[in-house]
Amino acid sequence: MANHKVVCWDCGCDVDDPFVNTCPKCGGLLTVKMDLEPVKEMRPEDLRKEPIGVWRYAPFLPVDYDKRVSIKEGGTPLYRTDALAAECGIGELHVKYEGANPTGSFKDRGMTIGVSHAVELGAKVVGCASTGNTSASLAAYASKAGIRCAVFLPSGKVAAGKLAQAMFFGAKVISVDGNFDDALRLAREMAEERSLYLLNSINPYRPEGQKSVLFEIMDQLAYDVPDRIILPVGNAANIWAVYKAVKELEEVGWIDKIPMLTGIQAEGAAPVARAFKDKDKDFVPEEHPETVATAIRIGNPVSGRKALHAIYDTGGYSTTVTDDEILAAQKMLGRREGVGVEPASAASVAGAKKLREMGIIDKDERVVCICTGNALKDPDTIIAHSDPVCQCPNDVAAVRKILLG
Ligand code: F0G
Repeated sequence: MANHKVVCWDCGCDVDDPFVNTCPKCGGLLTVKMDLEPVKEMRPEDLRKEPIGVWRYAPFLPVDYDKRVSIKEGGTPLYRTDALAAECGIGELHVKYEGANPTGSFKDRGMTIGVSHAVELGAKVVGCASTGNTSASLAAYASKAGIRCAVFLPSGKVAAGKLAQAMFFGAKVISVDGNFDDALRLAREMAEERSLYLLNSINPYRPEGQKSVLFEIMDQLAYDVPDRIILPVGNAANIWAVYKAVKELEEVGWIDKIPMLTGIQAEGAAPVARAFKDKDKDFVPEEHPETVATAIRIGNPVSGRKALHAIYDTGGYSTTVTDDEILAAQKMLGRREGVGVEPASAASVAGAKKLREMGIIDKDERVVCICTGNALKDPDTIIAHSDPVCQCPNDVAAVRKILLG
């Protein structure tokens, strides 16, 4: 007996065809409804025999533990970042460092579930559109599963580390003349023709794995629920996944407080933050998204409506940060805490600082920033915005001059 079903998030009907990504009746977004009755008999301690990581939370997941395609995803550190907290004027600040995942981003949490499910369905080819991290992750998990993989990338806008990973893991890399939204449209068309099984986050199984970041944060904070969790928002599925996890923990009675989910977007790619500002439930797509944080350079986020629901329902917030604020936050995290994240990830920290300045975040709040990807994903941006290296002749006197002045 399956422990879940797929339903339409908009009209509520059951969706039985495993190869569709939208509701056949109303065109709405899909979601997984878990049967959590067995979990209501359990306590968090009951799961601790399994090491911390995505699969510790198997009773909350729609794929059989024994059928998992895993490269040990999740189990990432939660750092208490006191220097950063002081810099931002926030009472207690933690960083959940998703850059420590096997392929260097949170996407691995979703892919272990997505690819396991694809294998269950007998898929021979998996594919996705991506700003980079999804493709890097999917390519790795497809290799592990022994199936083929095609990735659709916006030409010239994918950071070097991510592109290298997709190529390295042997995916067919298709560089599309257009942005992420264009690439996704093409990938979805190929999926509708059944030429590939689509593993973008519109696939309802992906967010199920991404729920685990919230489960881990709760374990790491001994179930002392933080006041606020801040995430960067691009295609908008991750904040939805965190929301779903919060609601599921509430349903099984493991938490009695809800953190305010707060989504940060780059100023040049901010349909969700603009909708929030206008108090709208839906967003207006942006034609020409642009930001140094290429991971979240998205104008038409597939899960934008779900993200807005997550923010409103938790009393959260959404705002934008500039590219300069993103780069400053990235540097601050590196220089103050020794934590290296890619620009999109730093948007959460830049958002924390800005919302504190705006008075939205109270000085005594306990805040967790989710930092979604590793600094090494995008070395070019770091090199372009760092002090130049000291070119030095092969000579000790020259070294002395550089070091001692
Ligand atoms: N941070 C990083 C590092 C990302 O790669 C992404 C999304 C996000 C944040 C935003 O998450 O889309 O769930 O709101 N990257 C996707 C990709 C779009 O293709 O790798 P989201």
